[in-house]
Amino acid sequence: TDLNKIRNFSIVAHIDHGKSTLADRLIQETGTVAGRDMKEQLLDSMDIERERGITIKANTVRIDYQADDGEKYVLNLIDTPGHVDFAYEVSRSMRAVEGSLLVVDSTQGVEAQTLANVYHAIDADHEIVPVLNKIDLPASDCDRVAEQIEDVIGIDATDAIQVSAKTGQGIHETLEAIVTHLPAPTGTLDAPLKAMLVDSWYDSYLGVIVLVRIMDGVLKKGDRIRMMQNGSIHHVDRIGVFRPQMEMITELGPGEIGFLTASIKQVRDTRVGDTITHEKKPCETPLEGFKPSQPVVFCGLFPVDSAEFEDLRDAIEKLALNDASFSHEMETSAALGFGFRCGFLGLLHLEVIRDRIEREYNIELITTAPSVIYHIYMRDGSMIELHNPADMPDLTHVDHLEEPRIKATILVPDEYLGDVLKLCQDRRGIQEDLTYAGSRAMVVYDLPLNEVVFDFYDRLKSVTKGYASFDYQMIGYRQDYLVKMSILVNDEPVDALSTMVHRDRAEMRGRAMVEKLKDLIPRHMFKIPIQAAIGGKVIARETLSAMRKDVTAKCYGGDMTRKKKLLEKQKAGKKKMRQFGKVDIPQEAFISALKLD
Ligand code: GTP
Repeated sequence: TDLNKIRNFSIVAHIDHGKSTLADRLIQETGTVAGRDMKEQLLDSMDIERERGITIKANTVRIDYQADDGEKYVLNLIDTPGHVDFAYEVSRSMRAVEGSLLVVDSTQGVEAQTLANVYHAIDADHEIVPVLNKIDLPASDCDRVAEQIEDVIGIDATDAIQVSAKTGQGIHETLEAIVTHLPAPTGTLDAPLKAMLVDSWYDSYLGVIVLVRIMDGVLKKGDRIRMMQNGSIHHVDRIGVFRPQMEMITELGPGEIGFLTASIKQVRDTRVGDTITHEKKPCETPLEGFKPSQPVVFCGLFPVDSAEFEDLRDAIEKLALNDASFSHEMETSAALGFGFRCGFLGLLHLEVIRDRIEREYNIELITTAPSVIYHIYMRDGSMIELHNPADMPDLTHVDHLEEPRIKATILVPDEYLGDVLKLCQDRRGIQEDLTYAGSRAMVVYDLPLNEVVFDFYDRLKSVTKGYASFDYQMIGYRQDYLVKMSILVNDEPVDALSTMVHRDRAEMRGRAMVEKLKDLIPRHMFKIPIQAAIGGKVIARETLSAMRKDVTAKCYGGDMTRKKKLLEKQKAGKKKMRQFGKVDIPQEAFISALKLD
């Protein structure tokens, strides 16, 4: 295809501002999919994404469009994940295209993720076309939102297109703007092949599918290619494009976006951001800025029923095949038995994987407290990366400890600002900036990541009734006074409940934790002390008094079936318990104990 007739773009938006609906409309308007094949939200392919209304895997579609100037254009839309956890994937996808549609809900205005994503687009030197969506709604206020886009983001919004992705109004104008306002890609046809690996995923029929953007040269079916990061060689057996269903073609030239398959066994062998070239006649330098995404949040996943350990291993290995950013290794816990220590890009990523294991593989899980990676500097000058509080070395050998910090951007209506500031302050935040855009405040905080991984989103949502939006980026490590807090039940340490906490908050956290556990652990036939401790020092203590629990006591001997039923129920309940020494702790106790109020 003639480079001048190609337009590559992405859509950036805050969650729920209508990105998927708009993409569907663009596809429908250009007749790419026949009306009856049009399923809602074609681009969100996984069920879980649809259910949660979030887009996780980047996806793409090629649209043929005959513009008002009479010329035929090829428009390639790359869909980008909208969530903070996938920031690296977003920034990579952006480098594969030249422009963006900035979709803002005209009833809402600019949100934190709008900002984060549009900055990725600006970093990638995109031309940006603002689109004001949902103009069919009475609350739509295009003038106000256009002004806000100029004030907060600093891009010209005088030509913003007014759209209703629902009714189709403004869709034609959007397509015209893509053709007239966004630049065509550049690239050299007869240069050695240089292609960006934009994304990859596992398909049960075709194996690993690799989404590529050709920068220079031509990729043909049958070529032998080299992944520049690890030097591996593959034989290309298919090339195609998404419309959005797959269509096989024979080659891709400069500026084009499409996919290849090459009998690659696992997604791990392909790294987002890598450069693909030919085995013979390779390009000299790879594309800049490759960095593999690293997990930042870790937690243990254990089967509630220890007989399901092998099933869990199977599930985790299958999921890992398809997700290079998800790490796992076996872990044994005195309390929880065999399980896995897993690493994730963020909390949402953690939740998605956990949900999939429970739902798709039907394994009930106990998830331990999410933890971040601490840097432990030892007296002997060495440094240890601590992924699991249970592995904290003996304090006498430790010199100091550093924790990861983030820069958080929060947008919130005025009336909730006080609550948000208090929440950030309570989580050891340092305020960096506070500005206003209309009736909304934008606050920037420097926060420890470990205070955010617990339940920060939940708290933020609840104190602002859902009106705040939040985004973050990692800024680096800083020293602080952190300690490992252990929990002892009946004098036995419960390793799964160990957490790293700031020394100043240890008493408060410890107290909250033992009080909660006291309510969550059922009474036994003996007294049970529940303690929080730092090193050998107990900082909080509760005692659960003894009680005799006999579920069959109230059926007076006669009714055997009822007795049996009750005993069966009790057995089923037991399965969800974990024994610690002589004490049974129900699964909910772990989950609840780890949430803060
Ligand atoms: P994520 O995939 O979660 O990032 O969300 P999204 O930005 O793709 O939003 P989506 O397209 O799922 O739209 C969110 C909601 O807004 C859906 O309920 C849509 O039906 C609705 N919606 C989208 N566009 C319009 C519009 O123009 N008018 C109205 N009234 N509703 C719209």
